[in-house]
Amino acid sequence: MQNAALLAGVFTLSQAIADMRLFMSETLKQSKPDGDRPCVLVTGGAGYIGSHAVLALKDAGWRVAVIDNLTTGFRFAVPDGVPFYEGDIEDGALLAQIFEKEQIGAIMHFAGSIIVPESVADPLKYYHNNTVKSRALIEAAVKGGLPHFIFSSTAATYGVPEVSPVDEDTPKIPINPYGWSKLMTEQMLADTSFAHDINFCVLRYFNVAGADPKGRSGQSTAGATHLIKVALETALGKRPSVSVFGTDYDTPDGTGVRDYIHVSDLASAHVLALEALIDQPARSLTMNCGYGQGFSVLQVLDAVDRVTNLEIKRVMEPRRAGDPGSLISDPSRIRSTIPWQPQHDDLDTIIAHALQWERALAEKSPTSRGNG
Ligand SMILES: NC(=O)c1ccc[n+]([C@@H]2O[C@H](COP(=O)([O-])OP(=O)(O)OC[C@H]3O[C@@H](n4cnc5c(N)ncnc54)[C@H](O)[C@@H]3O)[C@@H](O)[C@H]2O)c1
Repeated sequence: MQNAALLAGVFTLSQAIADMRLFMSETLKQSKPDGDRPCVLVTGGAGYIGSHAVLALKDAGWRVAVIDNLTTGFRFAVPDGVPFYEGDIEDGALLAQIFEKEQIGAIMHFAGSIIVPESVADPLKYYHNNTVKSRALIEAAVKGGLPHFIFSSTAATYGVPEVSPVDEDTPKIPINPYGWSKLMTEQMLADTSFAHDINFCVLRYFNVAGADPKGRSGQSTAGATHLIKVALETALGKRPSVSVFGTDYDTPDGTGVRDYIHVSDLASAHVLALEALIDQPARSLTMNCGYGQGFSVLQVLDAVDRVTNLEIKRVMEPRRAGDPGSLISDPSRIRSTIPWQPQHDDLDTIIAHALQWERALAEKSPTSRGNG
């Protein structure tokens, strides 16, 4: 009897919370015409993916502000007219000021450290920048009463999956501190959302590549390890050759197979995910971001040769520890949850857009972070 009363109480409370979220969300949508929507704070908006999210949000009519400490980002990547705050996501006082000044209604959290081998060599850096500081950001969001949070996670949370393609329920057993630092943040969001009035969307990216088709942004980080970026730097003479790590995997040509997603399609998924969070404030989401199609390293290099009309030098190397043979997303959930229509699901297009950016980048000063 007591249990029944308790359960009824819990049910009433959760129903009341759900009703309140729905009311807040409807109020946000109905009382704000497009030009007057809540502003979205993009952390890491001066970085590769964050800067494309800023463009996608602006193109879709959202107001945006950026916080970035410019450790790997570039001031020039933030479009003119977007309020930019140079600072750290762990700075609660700064965040509170930004929330107030810009009337922030949602966070897209891209800021973080992303180099897997570095995370193995310096795990505490990753647990600090990716996990501890994400905790501070989530806390600031709760304190500020922000209702929606979107988080950049990664296929690295799956470790070396035993299945392919990988769906969201595949066991998550990361094999490096980077993957763990992201998985821990996913868990913090789930627990926080249960306890507080905030819903979230975790997006687990597969291999992100390409650049804004209009040439407004791209991947600028020097020394990046992403295959397409490295291959194009080789094509443009910035590197002597490209290494192929592992030629004896159980894949059609023996080299590693990955699911490459165009960064602008990924950015548009974020905008739709935000709309989904606002539409259903009692619901949180976790979705893979990939096209569900794999290309081997050699297929990618053939495509780079095709697009550049060159033959870049390839050097065959042994496997790297911890690289799965194949990592392909099962995109069923994202396709059935949000009305996502990828526009650039084509390897040659991804490479052509990346090449356009790489050429533009060569014109910029290689040492400048564009902060002056
Ligand atoms: N690039 C990929 O293929 C890929 C794949 C999976 C997931 N992700 C995730 O996507 C997100 C963005 O990655 P990216 O490729 O754009 O990396 P990036 O290095 O280009 O961007 C990260 C941005 O965050 C900023 N930053 C880092 N720590 C910060 C802090 N403490 N406070 C404020 N700003 C900070 C950097 O200056 C940079 O501008 C990351 O969270 C990464 O883990 C990337």
